[in-house]
Amino acid sequence: MRLNSPRPSGFLLPGKSPINNLRGSDQLIRVLGIETSCDETAASVVALDSDALPRILSNIVLSQIEEHAAFGGVVPEIAARAHVEALDGIIEAALADSGVALADIDAIAATAGPGLVGGLIVGLMTAKAIAAAAGKPLIAVNHLEGHALTARLTDGLDFPYLLLLVSGGHTQILAVRGVGDYQRWATTIDDALGEAFDKTAKMLGLPYPGGPNVEKAAHDGNAARFAFPRPMKGSAQPDFSFSGLKTAVRQAATAIEPLGDQDVADICASFQAAVADALADRVARALTRFRDTFPGAKSPTLVVAGGVAANRTIKATLEHLCAQAGFSFVAPPLKLCTDNAAMIAWAGIERLRGGLAEENGFDFVPRSRWPLDSISAPMVGSGRRGAKA
Ligand code: KG4
Ligand code: ZN
Repeated sequence: MRLNSPRPSGFLLPGKSPINNLRGSDQLIRVLGIETSCDETAASVVALDSDALPRILSNIVLSQIEEHAAFGGVVPEIAARAHVEALDGIIEAALADSGVALADIDAIAATAGPGLVGGLIVGLMTAKAIAAAAGKPLIAVNHLEGHALTARLTDGLDFPYLLLLVSGGHTQILAVRGVGDYQRWATTIDDALGEAFDKTAKMLGLPYPGGPNVEKAAHDGNAARFAFPRPMKGSAQPDFSFSGLKTAVRQAATAIEPLGDQDVADICASFQAAVADALADRVARALTRFRDTFPGAKSPTLVVAGGVAANRTIKATLEHLCAQAGFSFVAPPLKLCTDNAAMIAWAGIERLRGGLAEENGFDFVPRSRWPLDSISAPMVGSGRRGAKA
């Protein structure tokens, strides 16, 4: 750590308060984050100043979407090669953008799992090499922890809070109780929600990535035309399921083939309505559990993260649900909701400040599977694709 370093003149997230339990130090921490777990090559420098105000000094994300589009999904081998080609340049650019020299970086934080192992190896080994050459500590970060802690970077949230993570590889509800202290309350028993969007798009002939295209098509559709199932709605088991819904979409599409534009729009709108309804039911249960578990929580909050959080119908449904239940609703800006390295650098800072970084380091081996909550039993069939988090 460096005392008396010049303050970075970086971008301060607007209107955010200092993080209370990170107060008390006059040190400035600057961490370089590296993210390569799926199809984004990303690097970022994040600083925590002496007022405990986080600043994103740089945040560079190179998407590989075009390289994978022809295959309708992420191809692990292509992803790993693309990371090799781009990563050194992205790290250089992140350092240059931040105005911080490598010598003034306090630690390197890299995603070490879960994700596609080829990409994880590229990122973690690059981070190890840089850290070893520059004599810096290395922090191996769980990608899901990056998502889980982002709301503290953007909104200065205090623990505990509830997190709904909805991405291409994960659909989980987590109680975030502290740094390194997570309890999984629900997960999908089959497909991740982003995966369900992507597969629906593929069935209907919409381009990859499917989620945004399903949302676009749904805009002109009639959500009442198809009565799709609301999987798990009302179930005592808290988890999610989307494969039955996917099958129902396939059957409906097959039954009215050939599909015109209006048919596609109606299927998308009906699918989206079913998803929003099913999500609302599952999240409502979790809100009740949160109140029962943390009766002293001053401002109960639901945070949503992951690419599916971009969906306006889903967002509006969750916002409405939270307003009814007396919860605050936090959706970090999309750039920080989807995969990025600022969240990894930030998780590194949180670990450093919490004294939780020692257990990581140079002997850490990438883990394609790495649940945040090691106590809850793994869900058979969940996150089968294992590609995206
Ligand atoms: O978090 P993310 O960018 O990457 C990982 O999965 O890690 O999430 C990508 C997923 C994809 O499945 C994509 O189709 C979905 O998020 N997605 C959406 C929307 N935008 C992205 N799903 C529904 N509506 C959207 N507007
Ligand atoms: Zn992710």
